[in-house]
Amino acid sequence: MTKVITYGTYDLFHQGHYNLLKHAKELGDYLIVGVTTEHFDEARGKINVVDDVLTRVQHVRETGFADQIIIEDHEGQKIEDIQRYGVDIFTVGSDWVGSFDYLNQYCKVVYLPRTPDISSTNIRQERFRSIRIGLIGTGRMAPRFVSEAKYVSGAEVTAAYNPQRNELNIFQSKNRDVECFYTEFEKFLEEVDAVYIASPNETHFDYAKMSLEAGKHVLSEKPLAFTKAETETLYEIASSKSLVLLEGVKAAYSPGFQELVNVALSGKIGEIRDIESNFTRLAREQSRERTDGEYGGAFLEFGPSVMLPIIKLLGEKYTSVNFHSQWDENGVDLYNKVDFYYPNAFATAKSGVGVKTEGQLVISGTKGYIIAQSPWWLMKHFEVRYEDADKVESYDPAFRGDGLRYEISEFVRKINGTGKNGYKLTRGESIAMSEITEKYMAYKAAMAKR
Ligand code: CTP
Repeated sequence: MTKVITYGTYDLFHQGHYNLLKHAKELGDYLIVGVTTEHFDEARGKINVVDDVLTRVQHVRETGFADQIIIEDHEGQKIEDIQRYGVDIFTVGSDWVGSFDYLNQYCKVVYLPRTPDISSTNIRQERFRSIRIGLIGTGRMAPRFVSEAKYVSGAEVTAAYNPQRNELNIFQSKNRDVECFYTEFEKFLEEVDAVYIASPNETHFDYAKMSLEAGKHVLSEKPLAFTKAETETLYEIASSKSLVLLEGVKAAYSPGFQELVNVALSGKIGEIRDIESNFTRLAREQSRERTDGEYGGAFLEFGPSVMLPIIKLLGEKYTSVNFHSQWDENGVDLYNKVDFYYPNAFATAKSGVGVKTEGQLVISGTKGYIIAQSPWWLMKHFEVRYEDADKVESYDPAFRGDGLRYEISEFVRKINGTGKNGYKLTRGESIAMSEITEKYMAYKAAMAKR
């Protein structure tokens, strides 16, 4: 019996996939088809797959060509599978010619002719018109957004807005890929389907509101607003107009953070009783974070990131939250500590722009703890540790670029209606974080009066 194996994503199953599977089956007597998981695709840089893995498996099954379907979830698995299943022939489409020659030492490698003019990528592009994203603000985040958006299919950054002509000119001279530049907000909005807000903190709410009212989807840098009521207003406008509103707490969207949340909630470390979440970055003395006594400082910069694991894992029903900050002479919080108390747990979120600490995330439970070292907000590595110090479980989730691509990809997925459930950062979690921001702003105002 000749055993054949082939692998693929099989997203939005099409004729090319069908033909490939048919020919693969004809090469032997028994066909094994490996279908990739979402995580594996993400790790390979395919971040816009539409169908979930079970749907893709189902489509492969329905062809009737596969005698066995397996899941491919890691690099190097092909060699394992070939040996494990006693495979005689490995095959894929001719778009891969040469890429799998290294498997020749284990079995025969056959590249089958690829069906011309069809691919999942094309279908995705036809089905979902490319979303024109406009940048509001052309500061530090804007060029990063432009380069990371290139990795997300189905979206392009077409316009940028800044009311300051000179700043816009500087950005324009360095970002030739962006087509249009505006100092007038209404004109800018007319040219886009969605906006990314990366303007100064105190302008996020107004820009988000105006954009939503004009029918544009909004991805805003954190914090979305300074009060719970404002944040709720934004979500209400968005849902009444069926628009997507996403708060850009980058860590929430990285694949590894989701994995950490799942591990933490799996019971592995028992009941979660304490979370310590730290994020510090020494900002330049002349930077906005260090000079703007009203809307700069560590809390507004990093507060949402450090609150995220706490709200995500311990929930929105804390019994109390209190703040301690160290200020400079302009009223900028250089370093702060936010303490949360829950009925059965407590947590601390520290952030700094003028004090440096080890920026780690530690989640302690009744059976063990999870530790993720700085920069945990990119989440490339975390460990589960126990009383027995020799027992350490390491996780190395995939992470590419600077992480923004995952946030942009989630935004695009939601706009296209393929990622309706925004479990990565829910509306409730975003509102809960803005309620804490509101409390922090009240604390800050009270301290300034002293
Ligand atoms: N394939 C093919 N002919 C096509 C498209 C795909 O023979 N027109 C083959 C690929 O070579 C591979 C298998 O189908 O062996 C699964 O490919 P997959 O990557 O899932 O499909 P694509 O359409 O190439 O997906 P994408 O556009 O996302 O790369």
